[in-house]
This record gives sequence, C-alpha cells and structure tokens, in this order.
Amino acid sequence: MSQIATVRSPSNIAFIKYWGAKDLKKAIPVNPSISMTLDACYSRCSVEHLQDDSSEHEIFWRQGEGGFEEAPPAFAVRVRHHLDTLRQITGCGGRFRVATENSFPAAAGMASSASGFSALTLATLGALGIEMPVDQQSALARLSGSGSASRSVLGGYVEWPRSGPGQGGAEHYAFQLADAEAWPLANIIALVQTGPKDTSSLDGHRRARTSPYWRTRQRRLPSRLAAVRKAIEQRDFALLGPVVEAEAIDLHCVAMTSHPPVFYWQPATLTVLEAVRRLRADGVAAWSTMDAGANVHVICEPQDADAVAQCLQGLEGVERVMRDGVGGGPVREEEHLL
Ligand code: DP6
Repeated sequence: MSQIATVRSPSNIAFIKYWGAKDLKKAIPVNPSISMTLDACYSRCSVEHLQDDSSEHEIFWRQGEGGFEEAPPAFAVRVRHHLDTLRQITGCGGRFRVATENSFPAAAGMASSASGFSALTLATLGALGIEMPVDQQSALARLSGSGSASRSVLGGYVEWPRSGPGQGGAEHYAFQLADAEAWPLANIIALVQTGPKDTSSLDGHRRARTSPYWRTRQRRLPSRLAAVRKAIEQRDFALLGPVVEAEAIDLHCVAMTSHPPVFYWQPATLTVLEAVRRLRADGVAAWSTMDAGANVHVICEPQDADAVAQCLQGLEGVERVMRDGVGGGPVREEEHLL
C-alpha cells in the first residue's frame, strides 16, 4: 500500500534578507528576514510513500518541456537528506518516490530551494497522512538547510524566525505579518541569467562574516526591519521601497567583499537597476531587489506593473520578463506527477 500527495508551493522574495547563519546545518539565521510570498513562481512536488525500504528514495525532476528524469546527483543528495530527516523526525519507516518541477528557472537566484523544499516537506507530510500546525511545518521546511523554505509555507508577507517554542514545540519558524489580500503588491522579474549560478547560497552564508561590511549591514538591520514591518502594517509603499532596494544592495556588497568574493550580478543586473532608477525619476514608484543571483525583482503597486514590465522587456541582456505578485501560499493538488 502506498500513499501519495502533491503540493504546489510558491517561492518568495525577501525584503530583508537571510544572509549568514548561527547554525548553517539547521538554518538558524543571524538576523530576522521578511519576505513576500510569490504566486506565479512555484514548485510542484509529488511524494509517494512506500512501505518497503529495500532500496533508496527515488528522485525525479522535470525541467522545461521534457519528461521527468532522474534528478542530478547534487540535487538528489539534498532531497534524500531532507527525506531522511523527515523520516527520522516523524518516526515513519519505508521510503519515498519524489517528482518535482518548477514554474521558473531553478538555481539562478530565484529561490527554487525555498519553493522546492517547502513543497517537498508539505507533500511528504501529506503522503504520511500527518497533520501539524503551520509553525511546525515551517520549522521542518527549514531543516532542509534552505532557510528561506521556512517562509514559503505561508502566504502573504512573512517574517522568520520567531525563536521561542511554537505550537507543538517548533523553534525558529516563520509567521505571517499580513495576508496576500491585505496588500496586493506586484513583482516584475527581469531574468538576466537562467542558467545555474556559480556560488550557492550556502557558500555565500558561509563566507558572509568575512566581509568587512558585515557589521555595517548588521547595524543597519534593526531599523530596516522595523521600517518594513511598519510599511506592511500600514501598506506604506513609499516607506517600503527605498528600504528594500538599499537592503538588497547591502547584501550584495557583503557578498562581493567576502573572502573569497561572491559576484552574483551580471552586467544586465546593473542595466536593470539603472532602468528602475530612471523609472522612478519619471514618476513610477518601483524598487529593485535581488536574491543570491543576477535576476532583478522589481516591486511596485499593481497600477504600475504594466509600465515596469514594458520598460524591462526591451533592455539589453534581459532574457525574459515574468509578472508575479504576492500569493496566498501552498496548496494541495489532486493531480500527481508520479
Ligand atoms: C539571498 O539558504 O534559504 O535569497 O536555499 O538557495 O534559497 P536557498 O538559500 P537560503 O538563503 C536565502 C538567501 C537569499 C535571501 C533570502 O531569501 O532571505
């Protein structure tokens, strides 16, 4: 007898970033982060639980239009490791078959681990028939090693971590600041690099403290966190935008001045940043942010989304423009990938 569950989980874009860990293995961050859960950028994951444990977990993925194929070793190792963690924590036996796909290019600073590990965690719990409070789901997603996955189990605007014990004893879990309906912001994404990036976020976290700029960013964070929380509470885009852009630039300054340095930006990243500054000079309130990658997420209010998308479309080096916005969080699906 086997049981299968499928979950579609969105990615998220951080307004205040997770960069640097107290415990990287358990993804316990140095500073709180705040993100907006996305809608059109998501991972879909089916997990089948088999009672026999005669062989290893089987991991399949699909990229683009092709069929499902065995996932490459580096990715499969991370997935297997997380499945083993979940098996240990839930005390279940057996093994898993997994199939996963993304609606957007993976591993290019598009938080594919966030949506992927959130979907994997929730689908595994579904296949095991285990229900638990969202605090615990978030803490389990975090144990994948992808800290940002802990934010993707919730919709709307999300902060992570709350470090006291949550429901069921969960620690370092994410919580919702406002739901998606409360503030329908748009995110227009300029894809300038769709292939994998050279340095993983994990390596970036490891190197973060070697930057002479690390302390400066840490000192700035309390007031920035307060401003972002207030902006979300009061739906104040004029307060939010400048903080989000300055924070993203700071993160990349830390990365570029780490030892050894990490350069995520491509020439077209700068082209997009410049275009967004020009948009603002022309009266369009749009602000840029980048995760650990070259692609630029331009945050704006819905009435400006067309103008932003049009501007980004024609820029040199921009391969594709994706329109996204705040989303409601993960959903169970009835159609399975396996
Ligand atoms: C720059 O360790 O969560 O996106 O697993 O690759 O998504 P992935 O990375 P993770 O670090 C995220 C780094 C970040 C900032 C953020 O999302 O908070």
